[in-house]
Amino acid sequence: MTLIYPGSFDPVTTGHIDIAQRGAKLADRLIIAVLDNPNKKTLFTVAERVELLKDAFKSDIKIEVDSFSGLLAEYAVIRGANAILRGLRSPTDFESEARYAAYNKMLTGAEPHLDGIDTIYLPASPHLAFISSSIVREVAAHTPDINGNNVISSMITPVARVALIEKFGRMK
Ligand code: PNS
Repeated sequence: MTLIYPGSFDPVTTGHIDIAQRGAKLADRLIIAVLDNPNKKTLFTVAERVELLKDAFKSDIKIEVDSFSGLLAEYAVIRGANAILRGLRSPTDFESEARYAAYNKMLTGAEPHLDGIDTIYLPASPHLAFISSSIVREVAAHTPDINGNNVISSMITPVARVALIEKFGRMK
């Protein structure tokens, strides 16, 4: 089974890593798909986000990192995915996720081998449930010494921390 784990990953967090690793255990292959949306302002470019993810999963042969633009449903069909994987941190997450899942299923309904692609949810591990890329970006933006900030360090990879320091260093 091939799972697609889509997202913005701006940047990848330990919460994403946990979901991807647990998802990969359920599948033969997991494709992490970074959304390339020119209309959405992101801190990291698509290439940067892909590189941070590739570094995080460099020793995991089941996990591939790619990017996509346009509709996730179309990309999932092109990549021959059997299902989409998403993490849920809270009931609020489920509200928007249920909508995505319904549309992705309808949009792929005409594909005979899929019969409408399903979405599989994994609950966030409790100790990671409050981590989000937006919080990482916000805290980092206001933290002069990111290296010395244990909160940020616990939420991202060492390479992502360096990338954040460079990003905010350049912006100041
Ligand atoms: O990490 P995010 O920002 O919560 O991920 C959202 C994502 C990338 C999964 C979602 O925005 C998406 O699938 N975008 C692709 C465009 C698309 O297919 N839109 C229609 C869904 S109904």
